[in-house]
Amino acid sequence: MPFHDYMEWVLHDPEHGAYGSGRLSIGPRGDFATAPSLGADFAALLAPQVAQWLGLLPAEGPLALVETGPGEGQLAQQLAEALHAGWPELARRTELVLVEPNAGMAQRQRQRLHACPLPVRWTAFEALAGAPLRGVVMAHEVLDALAIERIERRADQWCRQRVVQTGARLSLEAGEPLDGPALEPLQSLGLLPLDGSRPPGWCTELHPGLEPWLAACGGALSEGWLLVIDYAHEARRYYAPQRSRGTLMAYRRQRASGDPLLEPGLWDLTAHLCLETVEAAARAGGWQPLGSCRQGEALLALGLAQRLHALQQEPASRLAELLQRRECLLRLVDPAGLGDFRWLAFHRGSPVSGQAPRPQPAPLFLSQPPA
Ligand SMILES: C[S@@+](CC[C@H](N)C(=O)[O-])C[C@H]1O[C@@H](n2cnc3c(N)ncnc32)[C@H](O)[C@@H]1O
Repeated sequence: MPFHDYMEWVLHDPEHGAYGSGRLSIGPRGDFATAPSLGADFAALLAPQVAQWLGLLPAEGPLALVETGPGEGQLAQQLAEALHAGWPELARRTELVLVEPNAGMAQRQRQRLHACPLPVRWTAFEALAGAPLRGVVMAHEVLDALAIERIERRADQWCRQRVVQTGARLSLEAGEPLDGPALEPLQSLGLLPLDGSRPPGWCTELHPGLEPWLAACGGALSEGWLLVIDYAHEARRYYAPQRSRGTLMAYRRQRASGDPLLEPGLWDLTAHLCLETVEAAARAGGWQPLGSCRQGEALLALGLAQRLHALQQEPASRLAELLQRRECLLRLVDPAGLGDFRWLAFHRGSPVSGQAPRPQPAPLFLSQPPA
């Protein structure tokens, strides 16, 4: 089968998929840790940004905080608590809307969010298209879970990789050649024409799921912001000749592997995003890119250093907890780890006709306001 279909299946099959079955668990004691799973400081730092965006929307009417791919539900719960505590007027108008296609994960989210201070519902982007919302969409480590197309250079052509089963053994092989419209993304990424620097066997990824995902997400929002936080590289780094195996990785029980065929349905599979591909797909879906930066820069702009410093004022009786929080805060900005994640902001929608145009938002985390 094509690698794309294999990845879709091992992650999202309702019975056998790692997310579909709800088998994967996220957190320092689970299969892999994400920023929100390290503690509530990440959401506390992000909350003023979300509140600023919500506050720029019309002063009356309902608002939505949408989280897509909420995993264990930590970020949703923590952001709802931070909004409720710090911006009660906004929180009174805000509904938490969760978009999670995997029933196994949604079940755990329901348990975590049973006492959420905001009204909560689970839905799909497509179901919102008839009555789109105003608000903010969060996509934290979600787009890296969309199935990718793995392609390989053979002699003078590009081929889709496929997964082949021989007895009990799985292997990757070059499959059908790419031609016609399938070659267009390679053209825009500078992989065509080839200058001979990609030898036979060189492989990488394409992201066919991004455009439909961003279009569906856009259809769910009449006006508002999308914040994508994920592993990402610029195209020149993503598709550099020396990155000959792409970015695909597998994670399970705090172990990482470059082999995507290990124990299908037990490992998380994830590929980085290409910044230019995300931006092009976002524009096609009606989103205006506002800019991007590294997580380290974003969190420092949002007050991480002050939060770190404030830990010193806390009573020494809570030393163990404070040391753990300090560790987590430093991990969030570690340039060799989570600090290298990218934050990408997008806006869509125009004011209702007859109203004065609203000012373009200057996200708190971007040092340069968008032009
Ligand atoms: C790597 S986990 C991230 C969880 C959480 N956002 C965090 O950072 O801890 C990916 C999440 O995205 C969900 N997911 C996978 N495909 C998705 C899709 N097409 N739309 C929305 N969510 C998806 C998975 O079920 C899982 O909840």
